[in-house]
This record gives sequence, C-alpha cells and structure tokens, in this order.
Amino acid sequence: MRRLLIAGNWKMHKTVPEAVSLVRELKELLKDVKDRDVLVCPPFTALYPVREELKGSSIYLGAQNMFYEEEGAYTGEISPLMLKDLNCSFVIIGHSERRRIFKEDDELINKKVLSAVRHKITPILCVGETLEERESGETEKVVERQLKRGLRGISEDDEFVIAYEPVWAIGTGKSATPQMAQEVHLFIRGVLGELFSKEKAFQVRILYGGSVKPENAKSLLEMEDIDGALVGGASLKADSFSKIVKFEEA
Ligand code: PGA
Repeated sequence: MRRLLIAGNWKMHKTVPEAVSLVRELKELLKDVKDRDVLVCPPFTALYPVREELKGSSIYLGAQNMFYEEEGAYTGEISPLMLKDLNCSFVIIGHSERRRIFKEDDELINKKVLSAVRHKITPILCVGETLEERESGETEKVVERQLKRGLRGISEDDEFVIAYEPVWAIGTGKSATPQMAQEVHLFIRGVLGELFSKEKAFQVRILYGGSVKPENAKSLLEMEDIDGALVGGASLKADSFSKIVKFEEA
C-alpha cells in the first residue's frame, strides 16, 4: 500500500532562528508518528540549520526548487549536488507560483524533474488548473498536459511524487472538496497508467495541495487516491501542521 506523505512547503517564510524553532517543536510533537512520512521544505537559507536540527529524527528534508545543472555560471541558482550535500530527499518542482510568477514552463520543469531523479532526489511534480481552466471544463486537459510534459523521459524505475494543486485553492482558504480532489487524483493515476505500467501507476504517491488545514485534512486524506498533502500556510505553525499529520481536527 502507499504510505502517506505529509509535506510542509514553507515558501518564502522563516528566518534561520524561526525555522530551527519550528522544527524543534515539530520533532517533539511528531516523535511518535511512525506510520506516515513527514517532510519539511524550508527556504534555501534555512536548509542547513534545519538539517542539523533534524538529525536523529525521521522527518525528511526537502527543497522548494532547484536548477537542473550540477554547477556553473547560473547566478542565483541552487544545484542538485548542493541539495544532496544537505541530505535533501525531496524537491518540489513546478509549483504553480514558479510557473506563474517565474514563468517556468513544462520544458524547464521537465529538465528539473529529470535532473532530480538522476541525482536520486525525489521530485514532487506539481500540477493543477486555474479557476478559469476549471470553469471552462479544461481541468483534465491541463493536468494531463502538465503530467505528460513534466514526466517526459522518466522511466518506470524512477521515483517521483505528484502533487495535485488546483491553483484556485492555493492560499485562498478554499480547498477542493474531497470528492473533487479524488476525481482528479483518479484521473492522474489513469494518465500515469498510460505512461507507465499499471503497477507503477498504483505505487506513485499523489498528494493534494491547496488550503489543507486541520479541519479538512482527514476527509481529504481518507480518499482512496489521495496519498498525502502538500501544505503551505498551515505548515508554518507546529500546532496546525502536526494536527494535519495526525489527522486531529482543530
Ligand atoms: P496553501 O498552499 O496550503 O497555503 O494553500 C499550498 C501550496 O502552495 O503548496
């Protein structure tokens, strides 16, 4: 069976002291959680101190983005080797904020996904439609395109995670209903079944993201094809994030 993965995407939040104090609290609150994976994705500046603080804990460390080259003249970028050096097990790729604000397209995202798997960092490929696309009935078309282009060249043995994040649900407080999310997750699994074997499609974890909070986490995560959550706002406080991880309602 697929193991749940609950990931916190801290986005551009937390100074080093704030980040360290957040993980210190999380370590304590989550020390008895053994049946699911927990991941934190701090900003780059806090990766090293958070890594140090996480020593001896089962909480995974991840990054929010990376460039695909190993090194070179790429001012302002961070490479997969740098992330490996810090024990990052996961990297979020193609978040809608990167697509929209930083104009990342499927081709660039695909290069990053390929580079991540080559370096044995598990990419969390984000896909999802805008409100306009949903209202014009294009959700499946958009998600299928993002998946097929983002995963081009990925093989059966590569490890990756998909995050379905409807853009209209991110940071808006308006989450998709469990049924709405389940429908798209099932569709995503179907697309994965076209690209890979049925077994592989069954094994891949598909996270839901977009206004996940303690009040709605349980109902979302109980759906058959929802294998975890990518949490933004509610991952910034130890109390709300640990409640989501443990399915405790607020
Ligand atoms: P949110 O963000 O939980 O604040 O809606 C989710 C995300 O962008 O990953």
